[in-house]
Amino acid sequence: MAADDATGGKAERGTRDPARGARQRERGFALSDRPDFAGAPWQAVRWRRFGPSRKVPTMLSREERRLYWWLTGVWAKGRGAAVDLGCFVGGSTARLAQGAAHAGHGRTVHAFDRFTADDRAKAAVLYPAGIAPFAGDDLLPLARTLLAPWADRVVLHPGPIEETGWTGEPIEVLAIDAAKTAATADAIARDFFPHLVSGGSVVVQQDFLHDAQPWIAVQMERLARHFEPVAFVPRDSVVFLTRSAPTRADIAAAPVAGLDDAALAHWLGRAEERFAPLGLGPRIRALAAALDRAPGARAAWRFRTARTG
Ligand SMILES: C[S@@+](CC[C@H](N)C(=O)[O-])C[C@H]1O[C@@H](n2cnc3c(N)ncnc32)[C@H](O)[C@@H]1O
Repeated sequence: MAADDATGGKAERGTRDPARGARQRERGFALSDRPDFAGAPWQAVRWRRFGPSRKVPTMLSREERRLYWWLTGVWAKGRGAAVDLGCFVGGSTARLAQGAAHAGHGRTVHAFDRFTADDRAKAAVLYPAGIAPFAGDDLLPLARTLLAPWADRVVLHPGPIEETGWTGEPIEVLAIDAAKTAATADAIARDFFPHLVSGGSVVVQQDFLHDAQPWIAVQMERLARHFEPVAFVPRDSVVFLTRSAPTRADIAAAPVAGLDDAALAHWLGRAEERFAPLGLGPRIRALAAALDRAPGARAAWRFRTARTG
């Protein structure tokens, strides 16, 4: 299916208006001139394409929601499963599943999470989205209810991702929003990256530019020969095309959890060199600056503490 089919034939074209060009860049941009990503075609996805997925609360930005739908709805060819690591109550899963339903290939969306939330997270994300207040920290019943429209294509995997593991099926779309510690990032690479499809799958690192998780940029830099950056989608997502699926040995040789601050800074310097020509140099520098402010931190919450003092 062509991108225009998904967008009602109204994909945005190039513009000579500089203000409009700047607005388009604020919405993200392609990092590669590969035909399937050039021109940021996901930006033109119309909201009506989202169907019932619009009702599922999500922490994704509006541009990320478009990206997720577009990846399964237009870009994917049914070469493997879609995997959503860190789905919360299923907002990202619902957009992936709705896209897959639109594309018509029968691939399953596998959603992983602990499916727990404290009162603060419930009050910040769920209640403002219209979910009635509820007791306890278990999100699994709510996620099942919200994802009922896609029950035939969604499989939930409750528990710590480090322990749940993967079936071994090929993965075409891997969306990662759970690499909140360096150790989890290593476990995700170990269990999921070897099952990517060489030349035919994408990894969405949803926190790649988040200044509380600098190990993600380091991980992708250490594995750079396997992954080509193809898209930047605000707030912090970078999408990578899998050139070649890393083997278990490749991954074992590129851990991030054991690196000291100097080694992380070294790899962030290499990432900055690679991403500066793509327009993301300042964002990578911000990751290095965050690390300076939180020496030794290898968990996202520790960066938040460093910010607030
Ligand atoms: C930012 S939220 C994800 C938001 C979600 N993608 C959406 O669309 O709203 C991150 C999620 O990752 C989950 N998570 C973080 N670390 C995890 C781990 N080690 N194992 C399982 N889930 C984890 C959290 O429970 C949380 O729901």
